[in-house]
Amino acid sequence: MGLSLSFFMRFLFLLSLFSLISAGSYSSVLSPCHDNERFALLQFKESIIINRSASDDPSAYSKVSSWTTLSSDCCTWDGVQCDENTGCVTRLDLSSSYLIGSINSSSSLFQLVHLHRLNLASNDFNHSQIPAGVRRLSKLTYLNLSNSAFSGQIPSEILQLSKLISLDLALNPLKLQKPNLESIAEKLINLQELVPSEVDISSTLPSTLTNLTSLKAIYLRNCGLHGEFPTGIFQLPNLKSLSVHLNSNLTGRVPEFNRSIPLEDLTLAGTGFSGMLPDSIGNLKSLHFFDVGGCNFSGPLPFSFGNLTELIFLDLSDNNFNRGTLSWVGKQTKLTFLNLYETNLYGDIPYSLGNLTHLETVSLSSNELTGPIPSWLANLTQLTQLWLQKNILHGPIPTSVYKLRNLQILDLCLNRLSGTVEFGLFRELSSLL
Ligand SMILES: *[C@@H]1O[C@H](CO)[C@@H](O)[C@H](O)[C@H]1NC(C)=O
Ligand SMILES: *[C@@H]1O[C@H](CO)[C@@H](O)[C@H](O)[C@H]1NC(C)=O
Ligand SMILES: *[C@@H]1O[C@H](CO)[C@@H](O)[C@H](O)[C@H]1NC(C)=O
Ligand SMILES: *[C@@H]1O[C@H](CO)[C@@H](O)[C@H](O)[C@H]1NC(C)=O
Ligand SMILES: *[C@@H]1O[C@H](CO)[C@@H](O)[C@H](O)[C@H]1NC(C)=O
Ligand SMILES: *[C@@H]1O[C@H](CO)[C@@H](O)[C@H](O)[C@H]1NC(C)=O
Ligand SMILES: *[C@@H]1O[C@H](CO)[C@@H](O)[C@H](O)[C@H]1NC(C)=O
Ligand SMILES: *[C@@H]1O[C@H](CO)[C@@H](O)[C@H](O)[C@H]1NC(C)=O
Ligand SMILES: *[C@@H]1O[C@H](CO)[C@@H](O)[C@H](O)[C@H]1NC(C)=O
Ligand SMILES: *[C@@H]1O[C@H](CO)[C@@H](O)[C@H](O)[C@H]1NC(C)=O
Ligand SMILES: *[C@@H]1O[C@H](CO)[C@@H](O)[C@H](O)[C@H]1NC(C)=O
Repeated sequence: MGLSLSFFMRFLFLLSLFSLISAGSYSSVLSPCHDNERFALLQFKESIIINRSASDDPSAYSKVSSWTTLSSDCCTWDGVQCDENTGCVTRLDLSSSYLIGSINSSSSLFQLVHLHRLNLASNDFNHSQIPAGVRRLSKLTYLNLSNSAFSGQIPSEILQLSKLISLDLALNPLKLQKPNLESIAEKLINLQELVPSEVDISSTLPSTLTNLTSLKAIYLRNCGLHGEFPTGIFQLPNLKSLSVHLNSNLTGRVPEFNRSIPLEDLTLAGTGFSGMLPDSIGNLKSLHFFDVGGCNFSGPLPFSFGNLTELIFLDLSDNNFNRGTLSWVGKQTKLTFLNLYETNLYGDIPYSLGNLTHLETVSLSSNELTGPIPSWLANLTQLTQLWLQKNILHGPIPTSVYKLRNLQILDLCLNRLSGTVEFGLFRELSSLL
């Protein structure tokens, strides 16, 4: 009895010792944040104001409102993450947080020198320049300043952030001229994502961009680019997304593609790209977004579009393609958006179009399509917009079309349609505009 009691006591003792040790190691794993970093965060909070007008994202909310001196472990604060072992702040996500304020190199934000990820997107930094102090955040791999009202020339100090993998500067009245895109391509060689859409670049595209072999996505929408697009960019081994949308003075040609090209998302719309679309476009098995609307492409539409079964968005409108039919349509069953406005099409609307039951927007307008409007269009129950104007379609409007419950826009004008329009039936299209 005595033996087992002392054994029991010793067991209790060991148990409490064990829990002391584990409590100790537990608190060192989740070590509370360092005083200087907590202070820097609170100082940053003091330096800005919170105003809902700063973020238009519907999911926005004020993350810093919950930061208080009452809670000493800043690692648990909204938007803040620390390294488990060191307790240093390594991630700060203040995107869409209603922040308004000017920021300069003295901002306490730049004392958070252990940051790996910083997201300030969708706030209002009141046309501040990106402060040169950003160079102190030399461990950054991810920097997102999109849509946050930064302005002026991007400082050359950004080139010192050599670990950057993702850089998003989009939707700011910024200039990327000195330094320019070429300096970025030379210095930030680990980039996988580069997003300067809407930033004023006003230059040619440097061929050194083809040195960025890790690049997965580059978005250069409306950057004032001109000159010839370096074809090698299409052949970057990891590039999945490329957009040069709305650079009207940018010219270029689309090269041949082999099966090892991983492109998924290609937007050349609103540029001066010309020449033919190669048949080998059918090798882009993963292509789901293809937009060349409003370019200057010519030659035949490749039949190989018939093989691009992953397409969700296809816009070939407003180019100079040869006369052709829609015989390649039918297998792209994931399409939700199809714009073939002014693509020089002739022939009937093919039965195979009825296969594309996910279509929401279809434009076949300003072509020379003939034959009747097929009654099976009613099979496309997701349609919200159907544009068939300016063709040579004839016959009556099939009553089945009135069953398209989601239809908001139906444009049939300038065809050779006959019969009466049954306005009573139109009323069934309750969402029609
Ligand atoms: C928030 O910003 C709007 C628009 O700039 C301004 O009218 C309003 O007074 C501001 N509200 C506060 C509390 O500062
Ligand atoms: C925004 O900047 C203007 C001028 O640069 C300044 O007068 C104003 O106080 C700033 N507003 C905020 C909220 O910092
Ligand atoms: C930086 O901004 C703070 C307020 O945010 C201001 O007090 C300080 O004077 C500014 N420093 C410079 C060098 O403009
Ligand atoms: C940057 O943040 C915006 C807004 O939250 C987001 O839409 C965008 O995808 C982010 N960019 C990157 C490269 O993650
Ligand atoms: C980058 O590409 C250019 C040609 O476009 C080449 O001359 C140069 O050596 C490359 N630089 C690096 C660092 O690979
Ligand atoms: C394109 O170039 C013309 C002639 O140089 C110029 O007038 C025009 O502003 C440029 N357009 C854009 C969007 O840069
Ligand atoms: C595909 O094209 C790329 C770039 O042009 C080239 O590096 C690669 O060797 C080609 N692959 C095959 C299988 O032909
Ligand atoms: C379109 O391409 C043709 C040659 O195919 C060329 O003659 C014409 O100038 C180009 N138009 C524009 C606006 O670039
Ligand atoms: C579609 O793909 C098949 C199989 O890969 C191939 O045999 C055929 O030639 C392709 N069709 C077109 C029009 O590219
Ligand atoms: C309709 O789609 C199926 C697969 O989704 C495909 O097998 C068939 O060939 C398509 N029909 C036409 C006419 O393309
Ligand atoms: C339209 O749907 C009906 C009934 O589901 C089906 O029999 C017909 O084949 C479909 N038409 C087309 C063109 O897919």
